[in-house]
Amino acid sequence: MNFITLPHSLARRMILILLTGFALIQLLGLLIHTLNQVRLQQLEEEQEFATRAVIIYRHIALAAPEDRAALLAKEPLPKGDTVSLSLLPPIDHTYAMPLSARGAIRAAIIDYGIPPGIRPRGLLLRMQGFPPRFVISFGLPDNLFLPVPPNGPPPPNGGPENGPPLLSLGPLPDISALLPPVSWLTITSTLPPPAPWRSPGFATAFIVMTLLGAVMITWAVRRLLQPVKTLAAAADALGRDVANTKPLPETGPAEIVTAAVAFNTMAARVRRFVEDRTFLLTAIGHDLRTPITRLKLRAEYMEDDEQRTKMLADLDEMEAMVAATLAFSRDVTTTEAIARLDLASLLRTILDDAADGDPDHAAALSYTGPEHLPINARPLALKRALANLIGNALKYGDAARVTLHPPIKGMVRIDIEDDGPGIPPDEMERVFEPFRRLETSRNRETGGSGLGMSISRNILHAHGGDVSLTNLPERGLRVSVTLPA
Ligand SMILES: Nc1ncnc2c1ncn2[C@@H]1O[C@H](COP(=O)(O)OP(=O)(O)OP(=O)(O)O)[C@@H](O)[C@H]1O
Ligand SMILES: [Mg+2]
Repeated sequence: MNFITLPHSLARRMILILLTGFALIQLLGLLIHTLNQVRLQQLEEEQEFATRAVIIYRHIALAAPEDRAALLAKEPLPKGDTVSLSLLPPIDHTYAMPLSARGAIRAAIIDYGIPPGIRPRGLLLRMQGFPPRFVISFGLPDNLFLPVPPNGPPPPNGGPENGPPLLSLGPLPDISALLPPVSWLTITSTLPPPAPWRSPGFATAFIVMTLLGAVMITWAVRRLLQPVKTLAAAADALGRDVANTKPLPETGPAEIVTAAVAFNTMAARVRRFVEDRTFLLTAIGHDLRTPITRLKLRAEYMEDDEQRTKMLADLDEMEAMVAATLAFSRDVTTTEAIARLDLASLLRTILDDAADGDPDHAAALSYTGPEHLPINARPLALKRALANLIGNALKYGDAARVTLHPPIKGMVRIDIEDDGPGIPPDEMERVFEPFRRLETSRNRETGGSGLGMSISRNILHAHGGDVSLTNLPERGLRVSVTLPA
């Protein structure tokens, strides 16, 4: 099952595929940029925090132990940071600090060149909670000093009832080894949430880049596919008018030049083929006339009256067919120019002419439709095509009710209905073949050459239109003609 329905046109399909690819690449780029940015920011934060912590440590470590608590209280701290002094570093509910942060902080301690005399006696780098906080505990370089809590000095190993509980050291044997007891300075700081797109120009630049890419893709695809449209238009024009199509320009990218050359060669061959065929038809038609005339002369001398009449009738028919063949080739090769004409008036004129030619059936001719409907067509050829069809309706169906429908999707439709016997469904395509006549109509009275429908369809095809047949439910035939508006 196909879940994705691609657009109909090649250009839209290509644009859709390329834009999807482009969007994926942009997203991937954005992701890489974001990860990078987050990492950079993190490094920056770590660096900053390490510097801050070391400055505070230096400050406190240099002070006399008894002044430290007061100093600490006055320490200017950014929002979210805390500092405290404790007997043991708080390691409960903490977890290991990433290696990179540990590296940055150790480096900051070395960079700040803390004099050997006040080097921390222990350094514990941990993380805590979510969102994560950095927790740095410095073991102060001298012996234990803690502020005296209001209810008396703490017992040496602390207790739950006196101030903050002294935490068990758990799996950190090196700290318990730091004896005699050390007081610890702990500094904590929250990591600000990552803001990878905080640079104001970034969003604008990204949007502009994406839009520009999308516009470029759309433009390039449309431009690249333009020659395909030109080729399609040229093929269409060739189908309508073999004699007059202009060759395609043989310029542009190599593939397009190759296609244009191939198309022009094909058009030239088709043109030659049509010309040859028409020439052959004309030549045969023309050359047959002489022997037919000779045969007619000879038939006059036949003794048997009945045979002579039959032979002359056959020869008349042959002559008519030859004349029709010549007319057919003339119609097919018509190079009449396309002009703006009023289809409604043309249909009414044909009906008037038909009424003049067959006054008995004048009442059975009718026109329904708009007063005027201008279209582009070859006036004489189109008149011949429609007159053939209306003539047939009158000849075989004793009526011609013509309805002209206004354009739908750029096509006008003409329906010609009659009251005749209609055409058996299996004959409907075959009546368009040259010289094809239905047996029932093979009599002198309605006699024709069987070329009318074939000529009509040829002309209509050359206009980009068509003709089709339907039998009416009761009686009669409907001939539907379509033409570009
Ligand atoms: N309206 C119609 N009703 C019934 N049969 C039709 C109708 N139109 C055409 N036909 C049949 O189709 C055949 C082919 O028509 P076509 O117009 O090509 O030739 P034609 O009318 O016999 O001769 P021509 O038009 O060359 O003088 C006709 O002989 C006729 O049998
Ligand atoms: Mg006819």
